[in-house]
Amino acid sequence: MRSVDDLIGEGVSGRRVLLRADLNVPLDKSTREITDDGRIRASLPTVQALREAGARVVVAAHLGRPKGAPDPQFSLAPVAARLGELLGTTVPLAADVAGSDAVARADALGDGDVLLLENVRFEAAETSKDDAERGALADRLATLADAYVDDAFGAVHRKHASVFDVAERLPRYAGRLVARELEVLTRLTTEPERPYVVVLGGSKVSDKLAVIEALLPKVDRLLVGGGMCFTFLAAQGHGVGSSLLEADQVDTCRRLLAEADGRIVLPVDVVCSPAFAADAGSTVVDAAAIPDDQMGLDVGPRTVELFAGELSGARTVFWNGPMGVFEMAPFQAGTRGVAEAVAAVSGLSVVGGGDSAAAVRVLGLHEESYGHISTGGGASLEYLEGRELPGLAVLTD
Ligand code: 3PG
Repeated sequence: MRSVDDLIGEGVSGRRVLLRADLNVPLDKSTREITDDGRIRASLPTVQALREAGARVVVAAHLGRPKGAPDPQFSLAPVAARLGELLGTTVPLAADVAGSDAVARADALGDGDVLLLENVRFEAAETSKDDAERGALADRLATLADAYVDDAFGAVHRKHASVFDVAERLPRYAGRLVARELEVLTRLTTEPERPYVVVLGGSKVSDKLAVIEALLPKVDRLLVGGGMCFTFLAAQGHGVGSSLLEADQVDTCRRLLAEADGRIVLPVDVVCSPAFAADAGSTVVDAAAIPDDQMGLDVGPRTVELFAGELSGARTVFWNGPMGVFEMAPFQAGTRGVAEAVAAVSGLSVVGGGDSAAAVRVLGLHEESYGHISTGGGASLEYLEGRELPGLAVLTD
């Protein structure tokens, strides 16, 4: 895999570089303001390096999941503004992805300039299952540049035109963020220092079963919280009231518990509420005694203590998924407690992307306390599952 630094070494001044970045940031629904710019900041080292080397940088990115046509709700306009602020320059936004405006603006770039293309998912071909459709868009994207750099780690698990097909059409390189993510994830998969403890949360157990299967033979402890813990508690024979439950996964969870032979650790207490609301009241109950009319919305204080104890001696930790509904104040103590315990780990601590990375920032915890905060939620999980990621495979000669 050649890196952006190899490209810079070859001499990039005056050349146009198509940079795929993951700038998929959360926006406030009403104000459309960016609520967490972590992914934009994480993409800066590669953009800066290219600018300083005199490249003309054409950035391609997606935002949300529009339906394959322009939709102002999903415009990258707020991202262009924030990227410009962080770079200290103006980043114009093309009106289209690879249409006449994008072509004209890319042609007009000066050395060190940065252009952002409009949301690549405004083109239905970007996410098409049809190779020829994706290929046609990739052909158009490839005309915008002389070289391709992929720094969109959060999207490398997608076989999309701007991630996969365009890389086949231009000299291709990995960006600095992709390189850093891979360096850290490789440490988790290749002889991790022990004890190796993984903490998994989030709502759906079905999303995490593949990674649990892949990790179980490798970890010393797997701590399970979040909405997904209730299917495991049900597999142990406990009633879970009106908590999230994936009834069709109970048997699988039972098998995993048996295979784990005590290495899967479940909550011992739960913060419950009669409704999914911040103001419906909350009580802490034993995980084995959740009342029928209550739902578990966070792990309880004894669980935080238990998990923190497991984490305290760990030398390698991977954490993905919140422990509860941390967006609501009465249900954020579990996620905060685990986040603090992960931050206190003296070995390598890695926070998976998505909600857990957002939780670190939203709860005001110090990002520097962690070894690495991944920008890829789905991508880092699929990497740990051992799956081939199209965006990485295509970069590898
Ligand atoms: C993410 O948010 O995980 C990445 O940006 C990929 O987005 P997607 O899940 O919509 O493909």
